[in-house]
Amino acid sequence: MSTKTPPAFSSRFEPRYVEDPYPLYARLREEAPVQFSEEMHLWVVSRHEDVKTVVMNPGDFLSANAFKNPVPPAPEVLAALAAGYPQVPALVDDDPPNHTRMRVIVTKALAPHRVSAMESRVRAIATELVDAFANEGRADLVERLAFPLPARVIGAILGLPDSDLERLKSWTEDLSTLSAGNAPVARQVECARGLVAVQKYLAGHIAERRREPKDDLISALIEARHEDTPPLNDVELISLLSMLHFAGHETTANLLGNVLVMLLKEPERLRALREDPALIPLAIEEGLRRDSPVQGMMRTTRRAVTLGGVEVPEGARLLVLFASANRDAAAFQAPDRADFHRPDVSRHLGFGQGIHYCIGAPLARMEVRAALELLLRRLPGLRLAPGDAIQYVPNFLHRGPRRLLVEWDPA
Ligand code: HEM
Repeated sequence: MSTKTPPAFSSRFEPRYVEDPYPLYARLREEAPVQFSEEMHLWVVSRHEDVKTVVMNPGDFLSANAFKNPVPPAPEVLAALAAGYPQVPALVDDDPPNHTRMRVIVTKALAPHRVSAMESRVRAIATELVDAFANEGRADLVERLAFPLPARVIGAILGLPDSDLERLKSWTEDLSTLSAGNAPVARQVECARGLVAVQKYLAGHIAERRREPKDDLISALIEARHEDTPPLNDVELISLLSMLHFAGHETTANLLGNVLVMLLKEPERLRALREDPALIPLAIEEGLRRDSPVQGMMRTTRRAVTLGGVEVPEGARLLVLFASANRDAAAFQAPDRADFHRPDVSRHLGFGQGIHYCIGAPLARMEVRAALELLLRRLPGLRLAPGDAIQYVPNFLHRGPRRLLVEWDPA
């Protein structure tokens, strides 16, 4: 009889799994599909079927407190945060009925016409970014394109000026540092102050739009209503805008990065796309499935449940691994293989599923498609630079290269 011990999820932070977490996920699915991680105080759910059960049952698996660190921040950090606005739930960390109200409002405000109206702007921004380095023959595509493109796009949709992007960038970092909760206290205080500064900055924009509405998402969010429920107040708007900015930036950058890595590692696929750009949307779906930018999300059990045959107590924190579900052979044939023609790709959970399904999916798909079309046209002979061209950071919720050095044959 086998007595092998399943690997602990916390080994995800070992360099080999930071670079490639999929062998770890495969073993978890096989040997401990619902595993309690002592070190991380959470239950890790890795099979497609169980992940789907969780996300499709929001009554049993709550999203409230999804980002709340189990260890409360130090008093100095709390004091710095107290100078700003309270952080209230905003969609992704909320449950019905308030989730329903906010979801209807955001869906109205982020209507398809707003996304399609952005397409020419997205192409113009991408062209400007690529023009700036196309003659150089070598670049870090993360730094030069994957990060700045979605930052400028989400800024433009919200209605924030380009000149404030640097400030918003440091805010994204502050938010990540604070939610990770493991930086030295002095650094966390600094981040809390940064966060408060941005809250005040957003409050200024909200006040301005209340006085004089514009054709942007902030104004649309102020205007939109759900039945006879109250409109969003300033505190809700500030939390929602922070969330939208955060959700719309790094995730999209990571998707572009991950799709590029997939293509650059198998150059014949890159060639296939160059010859037939109609394959690009299929490659994007396969990238979402095979190397999901959002690797997992948190839930909390409302009551004791049995999941995958395992008893999980009430009030337990769960990490549902979308990225592992997307490599489950019970859901996808030959799941590790990149295949742009797979018939089962629509089952992927790269954007989640159910009531929290990603609201930004059409925007993210459009941005990445525009960027890939442009790169294939403008950078002939695109290839990975020799040496250590790709680098990842240890983060178990998000995955994307922090560096992607490439070369091409400049015109
Ligand atoms: C929710 C992934 C881009 C806004 C989600 C969820 C996933 C996801 C997996 C589900 C979370 C859960 O079940 O708890 C992604 C990926 C993106 C992306 C992979 C890029 C490739 C965007 C963009 C925006 C956005 C561009 C905004 C413009 C949201 C919002 C939610 C969400 C508001 C919460 C929806 C709700 O709770 O009802 N996203 N996202 N996302 N995403 Fe995205």
